[in-house]
Amino acid sequence: MTGFPQGFLWGGAIAANQAEGAYLADGKGLTTVDLLPTGEKRFPIMLGKLPSFTPLESEFYPSHEAIDFYHRYKEDIALFAEMGFKTLRLSISWARIFPNGDDAKPNEAGLQFYDDLFDELKKYDNEPLVTLPHFDVPVHLVKEYGSWKNRKLVALFERYARTVFTRYKDKVKYWLTFNEINMLLHLPFVGAGLVFEEGENELQVKYQAAHHQLVASALAVKAGHEIIPNAMIGCMLAAGMTYPYSSNPDDVMDAMDKDRDNFFFIDVQSRGEYPGYAKRFFRENNINLVMEDGDEQILKDYTVDYIGFSYYSSRVTSTDSEIQGNKTSGNVFASIKNPYLETSEWGWTIDPKGLRITANQLYDRYQKPLFVVENGLGAVDMPNENGEVEDDYRIAYLNAHLKEMKEAIKDGVDIIGYTSWGPIDIVSASTGEMKKRYGYIYVDRDNQGIGTLKRAKKKSFEWYKNVIATNGEILD
Ligand code: BG6
Repeated sequence: MTGFPQGFLWGGAIAANQAEGAYLADGKGLTTVDLLPTGEKRFPIMLGKLPSFTPLESEFYPSHEAIDFYHRYKEDIALFAEMGFKTLRLSISWARIFPNGDDAKPNEAGLQFYDDLFDELKKYDNEPLVTLPHFDVPVHLVKEYGSWKNRKLVALFERYARTVFTRYKDKVKYWLTFNEINMLLHLPFVGAGLVFEEGENELQVKYQAAHHQLVASALAVKAGHEIIPNAMIGCMLAAGMTYPYSSNPDDVMDAMDKDRDNFFFIDVQSRGEYPGYAKRFFRENNINLVMEDGDEQILKDYTVDYIGFSYYSSRVTSTDSEIQGNKTSGNVFASIKNPYLETSEWGWTIDPKGLRITANQLYDRYQKPLFVVENGLGAVDMPNENGEVEDDYRIAYLNAHLKEMKEAIKDGVDIIGYTSWGPIDIVSASTGEMKKRYGYIYVDRDNQGIGTLKRAKKKSFEWYKNVIATNGEILD
């Protein structure tokens, strides 16, 4: 391969809760992400440390209206088509289909919404790439069952997956079972609807919930293959290699361990069994996974077809306590500041070559097709006196990353597509802000939810259109 293959799936990625709004429309139930306010309570709730089961009058919940994609998707999809999108990654909101998660019947209005959405994409030959849950669990399942702590979620999830696979089998070929499945360890309420009780062994709870999600993911792969001709069912990792700060073997070992915390999930989903390092970790940390007969066989038999991953930053780790103090933020994973690299306005390390390294690392490890399903720069965009956003910084970020992705393809890595994050401005997952923008399309809305929601093309719109039109040739 000397460049992007023919048929490379260029596009963008959004998530239901960050784009759709209409949070209770047409029978939709309340989900965990609808309970994340902006402000200081957000993070403790995301960690599962502060219970949040009902929206409060005193708080602002940005997902409730988001950018109103629910009512405006036709306009937005037309703009994506103008850029030449071959694919749109989006998620189905679980609670639009099963408002409580355990309802006897699915909600027809919710099913119809996605039917119409997929039909609209089809008009433009835009291939949907669908995430089953993107950080959402129906709140009823959290209150009644304890969410993914409870084994019953496996069957409820499988039913949800089978319902949407059956309904959309002629419309959707590419699926992802869980968004950033490893986020469960870092933001347990976001990743799995976990709320910890006083005195609970958090590691035990997290890994038991992880086991349930891993079995559910394998059962979704099984169902997808049974129901959808030529289905491609993938997993999804919040990726980004961890670099050792120094050549001290302790740092190197620490970096490997940190990467394995995250690879753990994909090792199971792609290789079909718990790795030895995880078994040792369980033994040494008093973690006893409760498994049902047949679980190990399910994990073995139904591995994923491809590896989806998000890439925003690499990370740095050190065992030296003085160096450890020099932290920066970055997609939730704390990292030591890399002295060779710049950071974004939100402190996320900018490391284009890290994308090439990460892609090679994942391909060496799994030998399955990769799909870069998130990447991008969250930045403050200030429209100029003519109301236009000249986002050269975003173009520079993306250009550098895409060049490195091309290098990875030249290295022999099989990458089937690239969907940049938030091709239209949406609500930030970590902070709930609107001003943290990723889009080629500006949306008039601020952090307080004020604005007309009008869409406007940024400078990067034309640039990305050209990237797609030339299949990445202009990146040289
Ligand atoms: C990923 C998530 O972790 O990062 C997205 O899958 C999220 O939902 C994206 O939006 C960027 O993070 P943020 O916090 O800048 O929106």
